[in-house]
Amino acid sequence: MAVTHAARILVASNRGPVSYALDETGTLTARRGGGGLVSGLSAIGPDADAVWVCAALNDGDREAVRRTGGALDPADTGGQRVRMLDIDAQVHTDAYNGIANSVLWFVHHMLYQTPLEPVFGTEFRRQWAAYEAYNHAFAEALAQEAAQGAAVLVQDYHLALTPRMLRALRPDLRIGHFSHTPWAPPDYFRLLPDDIAAQVLGGILGADRAAFLTQRWADAFTECCHAVLGPGIPSGTRIGVHGLGADADFLRKRAHQPDVDERMGALREQVGTTPDGRPRKTIVRVDRTELSKNIVRGLLAYEELLESRPEWRERVVHVAFAYPSRQDLAVYREYTAEVQRVAQEINSRYMTPSWTPVVLHVKDDFARSLAAYRLADVALVNPIRDGMNLVAKEVPVVSDEGCALVLSREAGAYEELAGDAVAVNPYDIVGTARALHEALSMPAGERAARTEALAARATALPPGRWFLDQLAALEV
Ligand code: G6P
Repeated sequence: MAVTHAARILVASNRGPVSYALDETGTLTARRGGGGLVSGLSAIGPDADAVWVCAALNDGDREAVRRTGGALDPADTGGQRVRMLDIDAQVHTDAYNGIANSVLWFVHHMLYQTPLEPVFGTEFRRQWAAYEAYNHAFAEALAQEAAQGAAVLVQDYHLALTPRMLRALRPDLRIGHFSHTPWAPPDYFRLLPDDIAAQVLGGILGADRAAFLTQRWADAFTECCHAVLGPGIPSGTRIGVHGLGADADFLRKRAHQPDVDERMGALREQVGTTPDGRPRKTIVRVDRTELSKNIVRGLLAYEELLESRPEWRERVVHVAFAYPSRQDLAVYREYTAEVQRVAQEINSRYMTPSWTPVVLHVKDDFARSLAAYRLADVALVNPIRDGMNLVAKEVPVVSDEGCALVLSREAGAYEELAGDAVAVNPYDIVGTARALHEALSMPAGERAARTEALAARATALPPGRWFLDQLAALEV
């Protein structure tokens, strides 16, 4: 196996830290992303011999790979060495849209409407072969890039098979796998055909260490191994938990830049004041428009609040940011349309000449999200299931005057934040409306004290330490 760069630390994920847009004139524009992995990896310092292996996700990315041979220009990546793989577009679509996002994501978030789905027929098997090929492309690239004994951190459900494949190519490597999603309980996981379920688990067990965001997901993984593969973790893979926290340093700085202040002004104006001249209260949510985020039930709970507690009419605004996600999938497009429809319905039902009950924004704008975090009186985080949910951890960190958190007990963050959040069952509309009322009515002093406690717990494991801890655990 040809070793090309001999990196000591490798990260592998479907989505890389940068993406490219190609315009009609052939100009490529790089856009850098954020997130735990980006700030985590930066903690190892600029001199660490690290490479990030990711997939080309669109035509711009493919053109960037064509022009660079796959080793991206460090000027585009903030100095990070990135190898982008141009995997055949159809193979990538089948693996990413077909298997990762339509099967594995659905299983782990328990999103199927089971009388009709899933249907694991020949089309699924065809897509599964693409998923194997896609995982293998990553294993080969990692095997080429890694120095003897290097540490490789493989990310998420897109790459469940890569650890075992990489182990076969390079037994000398120390391999970790990290799941950013929940893990399904065995009864649900076993919707997958037996051989596929065994491959998913066996793929991850090819790693020295399989890590999760919470103990709950780690336990579910172990239970699935017992149910599908028999008792005991056969390969001796170690199980770890690293509860990724919010990046307080970055957030606090970023949230006080002029573009955020400017957006706060605009939001304040949109939210407006009550008839007696006081600023209205805000219930804020910020999500990808993602089936698991439960945005529609959030809107219905807000409607129930306005219905059952008419005293809140004119006095509160639901500021909902629902940013486009996975729009290649019809079910996501339909969900996006449903979110817009329900928001509009609430507005047409309750709107007055001076009050718009729901302000919905669907265009991604990070500065505006931070402005909403700072302003929020209540943050609504009510996912059906969520690996962690960083919004729940970020809001308390940047909130200006304290913010009450309404939090689904099915979010990974709930394990750490339960004590000072108002807990909800995400399916219970009346219960969520009650929780919103409780949160809106929370006295300012209590709200501030709880926000402080939440912020302390939310930042207990910043991305840098989260990343370094995983590397250190692989040394053992
Ligand atoms: C989740 C997954 C990530 C993924 C992100 C955005 O957080 O755990 O792996 O990158 O969603 O989804 P996308 O399909 O746009 O990459």
